[in-house]
Amino acid sequence: MTSSRISGFYNMTVEERRALLREAFTLTDAETQNLSNADALTVGKADNMIENVIGTYQLPFGLGLNFLINGKEYVVPMAIEEASVVASASHIAKIVREAGGFRTESKERLMIGQIQVVGCPDFQEAKQQILRQKDILMKAADNAYPSIVSRGGGVRDLDVRVLNENDASSYSKMLVMHIYVDTCDAMGANMINTMVESIAPIVEEITKGKVHLRILSNYADRSLATAKCVIPPHLLKTGSFAGEEVRDGVIHAYEFAASDPYRAVTHNKGIMNGIDPVVIATGNDWRAVEAGAHAYAARNGHYGSMTTWSKDEEGNLVGEIELPMSIGTVGGATRVHPLADFSLSVMQIESAEELAQVIVAVGLAQNLGALKALATDGIQKGHMALHSRSVAIAGGATGEMIDVIAKQLVEQQEIRVGKAKELVEQYKQ
Ligand code: MEV
Repeated sequence: MTSSRISGFYNMTVEERRALLREAFTLTDAETQNLSNADALTVGKADNMIENVIGTYQLPFGLGLNFLINGKEYVVPMAIEEASVVASASHIAKIVREAGGFRTESKERLMIGQIQVVGCPDFQEAKQQILRQKDILMKAADNAYPSIVSRGGGVRDLDVRVLNENDASSYSKMLVMHIYVDTCDAMGANMINTMVESIAPIVEEITKGKVHLRILSNYADRSLATAKCVIPPHLLKTGSFAGEEVRDGVIHAYEFAASDPYRAVTHNKGIMNGIDPVVIATGNDWRAVEAGAHAYAARNGHYGSMTTWSKDEEGNLVGEIELPMSIGTVGGATRVHPLADFSLSVMQIESAEELAQVIVAVGLAQNLGALKALATDGIQKGHMALHSRSVAIAGGATGEMIDVIAKQLVEQQEIRVGKAKELVEQYKQ
């Protein structure tokens, strides 16, 4: 793909967009068919994925455009029901690309497995024994999942903590051991769970306690991905608002989220508006990503913003995000769901690390989209214009009528299904 900047994509028909994609990404017949097939995920496949299946459930599936990340072009598949999210991400990505694009990185990608041990006769002694036998435990965990070792991954580290040692209740005294695993391109939940379950008997022997829980931690703070953008103010000019005004408005908005959890939750929800659709489109576990992201936003003892926005010495707006990303590009639904497989190939993603970085960049873009709107016209103006299309459809508009009715709803400042029904009746006469 030469550029993710596809002008006029918004105004094309769905068929024209698919044809363009097919051409730009040299999609196979099967991929193209999956895109246009409402039953891409067959009920048969779904029946093998979860229990009690009665059908499949669909979401709108669109493309975030204009993303330039570390010099590479990305079109970003997004599965989401909320109007204006895809448009806003693409709008901000366009601004950021003019400023040189997003810069992203990840220092390491290790997933964490936890083992809880209770009832140790001497918790400190048990901890020391674990540390002494660290190599044996790490090797045993690797042996429980040899295929990851042959793929170049495996256990990289191990540590142990004693919690609540001085509590009177024996329920709360515990030893918690972590293994840190390079899961290569897998999210690795099954791998980690297999490892921690299989080494539990050795841990019991070493600690003389009783192993209780053995499970992956979704607080993937050894799998952090970061993204940054630096935007000169002239690129932020919006209507009658000067770029400097928009920049300062965004920073004020960030400080609000950083200082007040009531605002931080909404601010972060806006970030997840960008993150979840990509996580879903690529067949990843969005509950895991959500849980980890919110916990990370509270790592300093209070729930704060997932992003930071500031001004550098040249007066540029500087945005940064850092989040744990427990995602993968192999395993789970990533290759089972035909549209997840499609999403990964359209993004031309080569590793889970790369996907994690794209996801946080989209989160950062989405956050700026929301803050820029909030700091200027407010979000309703753009939001209602897009929402009016859904309302027009709910009111019975079809085909070319949709745009006409949506426009009338906005002009008459009454974006209600009842009003749409009235206008549809008038249109038909
Ligand atoms: C709406 O889905 C998301 C926003 O509320 C985010 C925000 O307030 O920052 C617009």
